[in-house]
This record gives sequence, C-alpha cells and structure tokens, in this order.
Amino acid sequence: MAGLRPFKLERHFALHEFSVKHNLAASDCEPLSQAGLLELADEGTRRLWDELRLGYTESQGAPFLRDEIAGLYRDTGPDDVLVCAPVEGIFLVMNGLLESGDHVICAFPGYQALYEVARSMECDVEMWPADERQGWRFDPKWLEDHVRPDTRLIVTNFPHNPTGWLPGAPDLARVVEVASAASALLLSDEMYRFTERDPANTLPAACDLSDRAVSLGGMSKAFGMPGARIGWLATRDPGIIERLRTVKDYTSICSSAPGEVLATIALKSKEKILERNMALIEKNLERLDYFFDKHPSLFYWDRPAAGTVAFPRLLGGHDAAGLCEGLAREAEVLLLPSQVFDYGAEHVRFGFGREGLDEALLALEKYIVTHGL
Ligand SMILES: Cc1ncc(COP(=O)(O)O)c(C=O)c1O
Repeated sequence: MAGLRPFKLERHFALHEFSVKHNLAASDCEPLSQAGLLELADEGTRRLWDELRLGYTESQGAPFLRDEIAGLYRDTGPDDVLVCAPVEGIFLVMNGLLESGDHVICAFPGYQALYEVARSMECDVEMWPADERQGWRFDPKWLEDHVRPDTRLIVTNFPHNPTGWLPGAPDLARVVEVASAASALLLSDEMYRFTERDPANTLPAACDLSDRAVSLGGMSKAFGMPGARIGWLATRDPGIIERLRTVKDYTSICSSAPGEVLATIALKSKEKILERNMALIEKNLERLDYFFDKHPSLFYWDRPAAGTVAFPRLLGGHDAAGLCEGLAREAEVLLLPSQVFDYGAEHVRFGFGREGLDEALLALEKYIVTHGL
C-alpha cells in the first residue's frame, strides 16, 4: 500500500476552522439548529425522534430514510441506496470496487479523497484537468481521448468543488456515454446537487442515467447538516450495493441513529430548507460580485453557476498560501489556498453559503487596504 497522504484541506480546516472569527472558506450552507429542524417535523417523524432508541441501526440505512432519499431520484429506489457518511462513501466505493493497478480517471482539481484513496491503493490515477479558460469546464472530449479499455473508474464531481462549475446536460450525458462505452464504472460525487442558481439546471443524477454509475449524495452541503454525518451511495447495480455493504461492515457498520432521523425530517421539508439556503447564497453572491468589482487587480472573479464555493484566480503574483496565512493570523479570516488542492499557488477558495459574509468581507477589505494589495 502506498498509504494515505494527509488530507491537506481537512488538515488546514483542523488548524484554523474553530479559531478564526470569519470562515470565508466553508463549503456547507449555514447549518441548521437541531431545534429549528425539529420544528419542521411532522407528527410521524416527530414520533421517530421522541421514541428514538440509540441502538445499532440497519446497516444499509433506515428504511424510512432510504425512502426519502429515493424520492430525490427518477429510477433509483430505496433498495438501491446505501446510507453512509459522505466521505465514507468515497472510501467504500474505492475499497469495494478497485484493485491495485486499476486505471482511474479523476476530475482535477478536486476534493482530495476522490483521488487519494485510489492512489493509496496503488491504482494508476490520471487527472482530468478543468479548463480555467473555458470557465473551469471539464471537456468530455478530453475524457474520450484518455479513457482506455482498462479504465476501471471515472470520478466526477458536478457541481464542482472548488470551482462551482456545472456542466450542461449534454456534457454530462457524454461523460456517461464515454464511461459506458469503455465499460468503466462512474463515481459521480453529487454532494453539491440542489445548489444550482437556477433549479431548472439541476442535473439528472448519474445513477438514473446508467446502471454502471454510483451517485454520492448527502446532507452536508445544500441542506446545511454536515454534523448529522449522513450521506449515501445510490446505484441500480445490486452487485455493487452488496459489495459496498460488505466494506461498510469494516468502517461504520451502520449510520448514526439520530443522524438518520434528522436527515429524514430535513428531506421531508427539503423545499423549505433549500429555499432558505439558496436565498442566503444569492445574497452572498451579490456581495461578492460587488467586492470583486472593487478589486479587479487582485482577483479574477467569474460567478459560478452552482455550488457553495468558487475558486477565483489571484492576480498580481501573490502567493495563495502566503495570503491565506497572513489573513488567518492578522485578520482572522479563513480562505483556502490552492496549495491544499495541490493546484499551484494562484487561486483561493471562497465559500458563500454561510451567514456572516459581510463581516468577513469587511475584515478582508481592511487587510487588503492595510497591506496595499
Ligand atoms: C466534493 C465533496 N465530496 C465529499 C465531501 C465529503 O462530505 P463530508 O465532509 O460531509 O463527509 C465533500 C466535503 O467537503 C466534498 O466537497
């Protein structure tokens, strides 16, 4: 085993997330309070909560939760779902479906687990680069040119972290076709689904488009519940579900009992929660547009079509890690430098799903002025 290298983004957050005043890098929407969520419970789910026993739960996930999850898909049913923590899902897919030496293609830059776990298993991981000049497009033509007869897995993440890029439905359909034609599995990380600025642009889930695709979804981002630690894998291939279940016996066995009930309550009220969260994102994006308009020589900003994060280019030769370090130390503002994505030194990740963005931008502005940036 090559071994898992440190997860740079998570280590960066571990160092700063709970000590800085202004988190301007977070990728979740403003977390819900438990009390606020329980107010949304109907009679049945309120009873589930009040009568909850803290025993082990069904390994595949509570049936009432899997029913709600299946409601997010067109052709994927409750038995096609395995509940897990979101990042655990990536681990399950790679440990369950890959072997050393397998050829894997992964969208890059990206969330490190999406390529690191495969790399640690000594797979041959090839990066599919985003094209910044095309607004961070992942061109399916690149995929067509690089997929091989022995490609075992293609890993995508749309809407994309860290760029917020969202393909059009034809691009996604081509990705699915390329994977199918090569008999490759597709791991489609859809953690940022439902954060599209225009809900009409919400993509079909990969698991509905192909029975060789596994969609990863979860409550952490659009629903603002990362602390519930509830996500899921969805695929219409029963053999794959069985394989993933087998690996879960070695990671968490079953998911958190309170988390499952809380996620069920949230999914039953998804319109209300998403409306609240998207309104905050829209307001925050207007503030960011204004902020970046004022600093055209420091940042290149292209408002993303989806997601809760963006990855503007830093202009003027500034080093992203140096800027973020100074900001955290002096201004108590947290941004993520592109170095944590192993992607050079010229980009920073901004998050815009949280409350407090105005205050964070004021502190950032003050730092910029003080340092003559
Ligand atoms: C693309 C992507 N996938 C998976 C995850 C994992 O989600 P969680 O932290 O809730 O396990 C994240 C979290 O940031 C992410 O950005």
